[in-house]
Amino acid sequence: MEEIQTGSGQKLYNEAKKIIPGGTQLLSKRPEMFLPELWPAYYSRAKGCRIWDMDGKEYIDVSFMGIGANVLGYANDEVDAAAKEAIDNGGMSTLNAPEEVYLAKKLLELHPWAGGVRYAKAGGEAMSLAVRIARAYTRKDIVLFCGYHGWHDWYLSANLANKNALDDLHIPGLEPLGVPSGLAGTNLPFHYNRIDEFNALMEKHKGKIAAVVMEPIRNDYPEDAFLEKIRKATKEAGVVLVFDEVSAGFRLCAGGSHRVLGVEPDIAVFAKGMTNGYPLTAIIGRHDVMDAAQGSFISSTFYTERIAFAATLKSIEVYEREKVWEKQSAYGRLIQDGWKEKAEKAGIELEIGGILPMSHFAVIGEESPLVYKTFVSQEMLKRGYLASNAFYTSYAHSEAIIREYLENIGEVFAAIGECMRKGEKVEGLLQCGVCQSGFGRLN
Ligand SMILES: Cc1ncc(COP(=O)(O)O)c(C=O)c1O
Repeated sequence: MEEIQTGSGQKLYNEAKKIIPGGTQLLSKRPEMFLPELWPAYYSRAKGCRIWDMDGKEYIDVSFMGIGANVLGYANDEVDAAAKEAIDNGGMSTLNAPEEVYLAKKLLELHPWAGGVRYAKAGGEAMSLAVRIARAYTRKDIVLFCGYHGWHDWYLSANLANKNALDDLHIPGLEPLGVPSGLAGTNLPFHYNRIDEFNALMEKHKGKIAAVVMEPIRNDYPEDAFLEKIRKATKEAGVVLVFDEVSAGFRLCAGGSHRVLGVEPDIAVFAKGMTNGYPLTAIIGRHDVMDAAQGSFISSTFYTERIAFAATLKSIEVYEREKVWEKQSAYGRLIQDGWKEKAEKAGIELEIGGILPMSHFAVIGEESPLVYKTFVSQEMLKRGYLASNAFYTSYAHSEAIIREYLENIGEVFAAIGECMRKGEKVEGLLQCGVCQSGFGRLN
């Protein structure tokens, strides 16, 4: 198959790296995370599950769909019409947008355990707000956490007391540069499904813990009543249980994944699963806990803009009307089963994980999994796909698109298998360097 031709996107990214530290605003969108020097980098247009690069070349997105932000697909007509109407009626004014209240009512209707809602703009920021509220409510400092929750001081401070704390859930060797050293010891990690680790921390820091912060589900399903045990222990200790639903929310049902898992937190945070790409996040919580937000100054101009509220209300309406979660999981099943079948056929070993709407795999072999991952992106790009080692399903995908994708990835798996059997290096087939690793997650 012919070599990948570079174009305007790669050129622009080289310019970007000189004036934007890190090149992009989101680690997960760095071209080096996919195909160094060859990834198209920028888009001119996106619609459904298709993306056009700066030179007008069309791709099918079978990777992260806006890094998880486009559950309904790109440029969804109904959602965008609601956003455009909000723009035409004034996206901002001195008075508040009524949609703020309509959305709060909707979120509380979906989560009857909660009694209050606040908003922010980004997932990590909303998590930071949740931690602030939990600390304000309990008047305590320590947080126990599991998983990835953003870039803010409260979170990165985990690496102050133990410089390896975030190694296996974020990025190995991360220096918490710029995080005040006084926060050392205020954020302590435990692993998903490790109730022994959680219990030990609860015992050791008894009386000083403000919150337990975790995703209710991500890669693994809870085992041995893990969530119920955490719920019981936090309730007994007066510790606020915060469920981070930034990624899992609105993927397994309308609302938080905890609704399916049957455990109610004290606070839940929603973000990219809920808005179909518009910048809005919601922190919902028990009435008494959320009242603490009143006493702790949390206030921002852009938290009040109307467009994202209008778009989010419409996203949720479409999501519920079309029961989008059923499609997302059905597609995820098809993908995971397809990967397994194609890998068996190719004679290669795969490790497959993730909840169905956010499935991922790793090729197991003698070379680094990143080598195989880069090769997959390279070969799939040649075939017109933006692909990686994960597939976040959206309403804009279809069974036909997924079946064709599986045929294509089956050919790439076969090429890897052939290379392995010949005792040759897959790295030798790369037209670029090996991709950088993303961050792992503790759950
Ligand atoms: C579980 C979880 N929490 C927090 C975040 C951070 O959200 P954002 O990138 O919107 O700040 C992410 C993003 O991937 C996430 O998956």
